[in-house]
Amino acid sequence: MNEVKTKNYRMSINGEWIGEGLDLLEVVNPANGQIVGTVPNGGEREAAQAIEAAHHAFLTWSQTTAYERAGYLKRLHQLMLDNQEELAQLMTMEMGKPINESRGEVNYAASFIEWFAEEGKRVYGETIPSHAGSKRLQVWKKPVGVVAAITPWNFPAAMLTRKIGPALAAGCTVIMKPSGESPLSAVKLMELCEEAGFPKGVVNLVTGSSSKIAKAIMDDARVRKITFTGSTEVGKILIRQSAEQVKRLSLELGGHAPLIVLDDANVDLAVKGVMASKFRNAGQTCICANRIYVQAGIYNDFVEKFAEAVKKLQVGNGASEEVDIGPLINQAGLDKVNHHVQDALSKGAAVVTGGEPITKDGGVFFAPTVIKDVDQSMVVMQEETFGPVAPVQKIASEAEAVKLANDTPYGLAAYVFTENVARGTRVIEQLNFGIVGWNDGAPSAAQVPFGGMKESGIGREGGHEGIDAFVESQYVSIGME
Ligand code: SIN
Repeated sequence: MNEVKTKNYRMSINGEWIGEGLDLLEVVNPANGQIVGTVPNGGEREAAQAIEAAHHAFLTWSQTTAYERAGYLKRLHQLMLDNQEELAQLMTMEMGKPINESRGEVNYAASFIEWFAEEGKRVYGETIPSHAGSKRLQVWKKPVGVVAAITPWNFPAAMLTRKIGPALAAGCTVIMKPSGESPLSAVKLMELCEEAGFPKGVVNLVTGSSSKIAKAIMDDARVRKITFTGSTEVGKILIRQSAEQVKRLSLELGGHAPLIVLDDANVDLAVKGVMASKFRNAGQTCICANRIYVQAGIYNDFVEKFAEAVKKLQVGNGASEEVDIGPLINQAGLDKVNHHVQDALSKGAAVVTGGEPITKDGGVFFAPTVIKDVDQSMVVMQEETFGPVAPVQKIASEAEAVKLANDTPYGLAAYVFTENVARGTRVIEQLNFGIVGWNDGAPSAAQVPFGGMKESGIGREGGHEGIDAFVESQYVSIGME
């Protein structure tokens, strides 16, 4: 691995930047293998310090008004926009996302802070008609307490803000635990939180060993809520661990999104949609189209136009303005993608374009790929690929599309392309997915509920539902005699 000038970043607990003397974790740019920075390898001790700080700060933060909290969040939102370029460059450097996508992610991330700054003002309680003249029945809303936000490498800014935005707006204090692969965006966000003036201990950042930090968080009863984005495998471990103290959980887990193109679809629109969905972040997105079902009547036309569009994608270091497809996150990611393609080819699929790893400047790239004539026996149609590979399967009917789409333990996102309103409505009503794009390959936004059915998760982030996860209902019965 080549070493370039690196910066030693720190973690922040109770308003102090700490980490001196701890082992360091290297952050590697997957586009060229260079070490771009280090963060302290924190563990149980640092997690415990952060919990103590967040617990202490909760006593006063939870007593502030929603309007005061909105003031801090709006300052943070503006600071994120003001620092868009620095945040974007850092993101591209630490995990390879093409720079234009990174700029887009910063805006997307900031939009959650803005949305929840306002939404915090609408955490309404209830007055319920009483069964007795001598009683008044009310529901009050209370912040759930100290929240641990555990986030993945693929959206290093947006997954944090989608969690801490509603938590802070609701009156909770937070501990951010970013992925070891891409912690630098989180460090910058922490700096901006400091600049926005959040009181000490309200926002804390712990970097380091996921297992040690998670253990401390799960063992400490003062942490009342875990909000996690990551694999279904880890999500299940958190469910088991949270049982001990009945901690609140929000989980945004794996996906395996079907994208259905029916005979009456506008093929150009479908190609545009699948390009937007499949190749976002080089296919490393939980809601990426992972398996594409195209009805027989337009199969050939679709495959041809789709492959034409894919051939135009530029692969390379995301720092270049021209690049559309950056690297995979690491060698293991690349190996998995390659395995999916090789398995499909060995079982009878055919490459239309791409199909191979690309060796370039020490980075881990995979050519944007379309494979056709795939079927359900192939791993690529059974598991999340997390790479720039689009397998296309020919289907006979709408009924077959629905059956195949639902034939998975996952239920995060699905896409349907049809110009027929009745057909689209009918298909979507049968799809067991939390998010559906109808003639739309990019459904995400701050004001809508994001989350999955079945093994894709618990709860929803974003939208007005996104703040519910951070408040408890307290029923108060008032005797009037
Ligand atoms: C994800 O991959 O989990 C996030 C995608 C999104 O928010 O659109």
